[in-house]
Amino acid sequence: MTASSNAGLATRATSNRFDVDRIRSDFPGLHQTIKGKPLVYLDNAASTQKPQQVIDAISGFYAHDYANIHRGVHELSERATRAYESARLKVQAFMGAASEREIIFLRGTTEGINLVAESYGRAHVGEGDEVLITTMEHHSNIVPWQMLCERSGAKLKVVPINDRGELEMDELEKLLGAKTKIVAVGHVSNALGTINPIRTIIELAHAQGVPVLIDGAQAAPHIKIDVRELDCDFYTISGHKMFGPTGIGALYAKEAILEKMPPYQGGGDMISSVSFEKTTYNRLPFRFEAGTPNIAGTVGLGAAIDYVNDIGMEGIAAYEEELLDYGTEALREVQGLRIIGEANHKASVLSFVLDGIHPHDIGTILDQEGIAVRTGHHCAQPVMERFGVPATARASLAFYNTREDIDRLVRGLATVREVFT
Ligand SMILES: Cc1ncc(COP(=O)(O)O)c(C=O)c1O
Repeated sequence: MTASSNAGLATRATSNRFDVDRIRSDFPGLHQTIKGKPLVYLDNAASTQKPQQVIDAISGFYAHDYANIHRGVHELSERATRAYESARLKVQAFMGAASEREIIFLRGTTEGINLVAESYGRAHVGEGDEVLITTMEHHSNIVPWQMLCERSGAKLKVVPINDRGELEMDELEKLLGAKTKIVAVGHVSNALGTINPIRTIIELAHAQGVPVLIDGAQAAPHIKIDVRELDCDFYTISGHKMFGPTGIGALYAKEAILEKMPPYQGGGDMISSVSFEKTTYNRLPFRFEAGTPNIAGTVGLGAAIDYVNDIGMEGIAAYEEELLDYGTEALREVQGLRIIGEANHKASVLSFVLDGIHPHDIGTILDQEGIAVRTGHHCAQPVMERFGVPATARASLAFYNTREDIDRLVRGLATVREVFT
């Protein structure tokens, strides 16, 4: 970390108001013009911009401390191993896990869910069993379970959602039964912004002895996570959605469960000894980290966690809640606009359609105004089907967005209407 960024941290730490200008100055990507207009970045649910502190941590690691990790006897390998394992401790603390043995580094949420579906699923889900998910899942919390069901002869059961985009909890209780072998649910929906009542879901599932996987890809940047308080069995996060680099994420899993899971991938580092007659596996968490991992990615993820911790998750959540309310009110004033997803508890996502205008056209015209939103099905096609729309436009917020960004969006939408009338 540079001397100037250290000074920045001190300023933020001593300030008790949410200093969004100071925060924005840490993100070089935000300070550019697009099509001649200052950028308004509202595509955070897809991926967030990176603070200078994360960029510096990655380039500093490559410049000074880089080597392959574990088993190296030379100085650089020891430094790289320390950096990698210290990032694991940061993730452990960030997620509230009891032990670093419960944190597995992998590419991100998608790989985390695939690991559980493949490894836990192979050992515990068979013919006639059921896997319970919900209508609002991202494709990465649908397809791995579908694949497991195809392989094993199990059935995929789906909890419906109401018109506001909230889970129908009565239906969930009915669907959760003796045949259910695992429940997999998103903490926050990327397409709707709904914050699901995961604590209640975990209690209901545990009452029947069923483990629960939480897809936390959209929660980790916005809500304080505490896996021990939640008592979830698995929780996945993606670094690139929480101000860290791409290609790195983490799976939390309870140690007692991990101990009984067969390895996911075979290769170097996940073994204890190998012979042609018999291979024995490494201890946790290395048993689930075959091959050379994304070492620099973990360093960047650790720096992103330091950055977020420095601002404080409570302050972030409060600021974003206020901004989401402001954005929701502002969009409600836009003629012909329908918000898709109006749950009572929401985080940071404003999905919408405009009468008679295709979302792709909305996105293209907003881009001409320097405003980045995402349009399409957001890897949640069952949600689009549920609301009877082929796609939506989605503005998604991070703690560096401002009311001015929302005002620019609203003015941009007025331009969209003008073009189409
Ligand atoms: C709710 C949710 N789950 C899972 C994913 C997949 O995350 P990744 O592509 O980082 O693996 C996403 C990405 O948009 C998401 O929003």
